[in-house]
Amino acid sequence: MSRLLVTGGAGFIGSNFVHHVVAHTDHTVTVLDKLTYAGNRASLEGLPSDRVRLVVGDIADADVVYPLVAEADAVVHYAAESHNDNSLHDPRPFLDTNIIGTYTLLEAARRHDVRFHHISTDEVYGDLELDDPARFTENTPYNPSSPYSSTKAGSDLLVRAWVRSFGVRATISNCSNNYGPYQHVEKFIPRQITNVLRGIRPKLYGTGENVRDWIHADDHSSAVLTILDRGEIGETYLIGADGEKDNKSVVELILRITGQPVNAYDLVTDRPGHDLRYAIDSTKLRTELGWEPTYGDFESGLAATIEWYRDNEAWWAPAKDGVEAFYASKGQ
Ligand code: NAD
Ligand code: DAU
Repeated sequence: MSRLLVTGGAGFIGSNFVHHVVAHTDHTVTVLDKLTYAGNRASLEGLPSDRVRLVVGDIADADVVYPLVAEADAVVHYAAESHNDNSLHDPRPFLDTNIIGTYTLLEAARRHDVRFHHISTDEVYGDLELDDPARFTENTPYNPSSPYSSTKAGSDLLVRAWVRSFGVRATISNCSNNYGPYQHVEKFIPRQITNVLRGIRPKLYGTGENVRDWIHADDHSSAVLTILDRGEIGETYLIGADGEKDNKSVVELILRITGQPVNAYDLVTDRPGHDLRYAIDSTKLRTELGWEPTYGDFESGLAATIEWYRDNEAWWAPAKDGVEAFYASKGQ
């Protein structure tokens, strides 16, 4: 049994990971989360208090971070400012959390010689053309587009440097777009689901041709546990489930599942610098560590996610009006 320190464990993917850890392992979890607009205590409700505790604090605050790292067997670092649109509006928090926060955690892991796993994104690799047969691999050069993805790329490079220069026992994973329960309504899939539930037409940026490579958050969690168990120190693993879909197809599927006309959406102002396509080749993770995703069918995973939002309006409703007002101010 291990003691995990999970940063950002009250956010979307972090909370899915904590639920997964409680269900599938004997580990205990300390969540360190600042509870920004994106963090939500309610995402940890129902978890056993003898297995999971929440510490509210900032990963950039060394006084908070060092004692928590000292008592952990491993740090799993999810905490980040995570939304591209916000990073275009106000980049500063992305530098504070994604760069300085990661630096602070790495220094604590170095001081206390604690195993460290860094959660990152496929966006560090930039984007692909729609007809490019290539997919991202661990050897694709970094080429981030947005303030968000450039700070994630910077944080990845810090981790690599702390491994090489200081011997920190770290691994990195870069995952594709996640979907599932507990995702903030600012993000694409929950925004469109909750729009439909509220009788608002879904909003597609630009022409809706942009492609994302979808993976269920629970599959992301099992991949991270696999890397924690069997990953080689200093290595990077790409996580993906062969789930490429263009945005228009995803909106049409949400409309079809909810019984709406499939063309009942609006095309709105595009995101500046909008990455065209992401696609992950996860061969290394599958062949070297034996991981496989279990949510093979995107349509049924999406239908279950729609049901979750239908059943959990109290979880998302407080954020919905503010998010829509923000988007409306930008013509989105
Ligand atoms: P999220 O925005 O839903 O959650 C982020 C969490 O971090 C929140 O609970 C927030 O309160 C917390 N946080 C933010 N700043 C903090 C700080 N300074 N100190 C402590 N806690 C802080 O994000 P998410 O979508 O769950 O993403 C989690 C991680 O996974 C991020 O590192 C992101 O880059 C990465 N990732 C996300 C995706 C995706 O599809 N969402 C895909 C690949 C990788
Ligand atoms: O690829 C991994 C990344 O996926 C993570 O690193 C990020 O943290 C996560 O937010 C996500 O980034 P994206 O920018 O791809 O996700 P988002 O949900 O913001 O948008 C998904 C796609 O949908 C993108 O092409 C933009 C588009 N979009 C988004 C919104 C909010 C729309 O067409 N309409 C919308 O209303």
